[in-house]
Amino acid sequence: MIMKITVIGLGFVGLSLAAVLSSKGYKTFGIDIDKKKCRMISEGYPTFFEPDLEKTLKKGLKNGLIISDDFSLIEQSDLVFVTVGTPQKANGAIELSMIKNSTAKIGKFLQNTRKNPIILIKSTVIPGTMKDIILPILEKNSKKKAGKDFGLISNPEFLQETTSIRDTKFPHAVVLGGYDTKYMKKAKSFFSKLHPRTPIITTNHQTAEMVKYANNSFLATKISFINQLSNICQNIPDANIDDIAKTIGLDPRIGKLFLNAGPGYGGSCLPKDMKALINFANSVGVKPILLDAVENVNQKQIQQIVKTIEKKLSGVSSKRITIMGTAFKPDTDDVRDSISIELIKKLLKMKAKITIYDPRATENTKRIFGDKIFYKKSAINALDNSQCAVFMTYWKEFERINDKSINGMKRKLIIDCRRIFSKGRINAEYYALGIGK
Ligand code: UGA
Repeated sequence: MIMKITVIGLGFVGLSLAAVLSSKGYKTFGIDIDKKKCRMISEGYPTFFEPDLEKTLKKGLKNGLIISDDFSLIEQSDLVFVTVGTPQKANGAIELSMIKNSTAKIGKFLQNTRKNPIILIKSTVIPGTMKDIILPILEKNSKKKAGKDFGLISNPEFLQETTSIRDTKFPHAVVLGGYDTKYMKKAKSFFSKLHPRTPIITTNHQTAEMVKYANNSFLATKISFINQLSNICQNIPDANIDDIAKTIGLDPRIGKLFLNAGPGYGGSCLPKDMKALINFANSVGVKPILLDAVENVNQKQIQQIVKTIEKKLSGVSSKRITIMGTAFKPDTDDVRDSISIELIKKLLKMKAKITIYDPRATENTKRIFGDKIFYKKSAINALDNSQCAVFMTYWKEFERINDKSINGMKRKLIIDCRRIFSKGRINAEYYALGIGK
């Protein structure tokens, strides 16, 4: 009998997983409650841009990937991955309604199945959620027992947007949290076939849930660390944060990745997970002073950028400022929790006139600001007439900007948060984060 796999929640994680599994020949069902989304995906079009996703999805569809809003497909499934979002509440805690709703539905269909499926929770949830919330909902709705009638495993995800297909095919680790049952053995054998070279770590639910937060908070710590040093460097004439990062990165105990100084970490994961972990630490009686500091440094970073713009322009009211890059990182159209979007909000409050250019994220930026700001289709057009250009996202095409491209600027003032022009390639009043003046 061929194995059937269901993936519930077709965001970055779920859609990448469904596309990769089906492209590899697994019989896969992708389920999402959003009918419109399902229609687009089943025609081969992801609802967001992600390199290689469309190609992989099309291959999966050819292999028989089924996309649907019909949860009854669970009844035929051997493995059910839950990849729904756990967005943020105002107090920093995570919002569990999507995971509660989907596990309740899974429970209902578990009731009817003759199979003994394994439910794998990929959604990021704080430690204890599996035991205290997910397991009781599944058992109540299915009238069956976890560990006996079905398997239940915490399986956190570490993929990065922009490399989600590669990361799904070749993860650096697979974490399986749960009890040592026949289901755990089955899951282990599934993953060791899928990723023969990847270490598999088996542990309990709470530890698996915590590993995810440990991972993301460590990455955030690295970024705030380098950003703090970058701020110090800015006050040392000619000091260069990139040379420092490159050198310390050669020490294998430190490692070279995630040491790019910039305007702070954004995106739909690191800020949310940091806040959730801080909230959780406080709730268990630990004052998370280091994590608080990491968040604090992140928030100060944008204030510092605003201050620099304000100082160089002698006030921003009515000034024409161009923001280069609104995506939270290059190669994506995702603007969720992008620092660039935060910056625009702050500058608009201060009555600046904002023009933006982003190679991919213009439409998503329009959804936030409508006609409050101007959108240009090319970097040069966005720079024309500008009194200050702030480079927020390191899009590769920005490297092509030269003296000619900025000819139309009313004042050739460049604030470079990513040090795209730090090698003195541009003739302008130039300020770069992390380079001492
Ligand atoms: C992050 C983690 O990297 C993934 O491992 C994790 O699975 C994912 O969150 C998640 O929890 O779903 P992602 O949100 O795609 O992935 O973005 P990152 O590549 O981590 O970048 C986050 C932010 O940090 C961006 O704003 C980026 O510009 C910034 N960053 C990153 C820096 O400023 N400097 C760096 O050196 C690296």
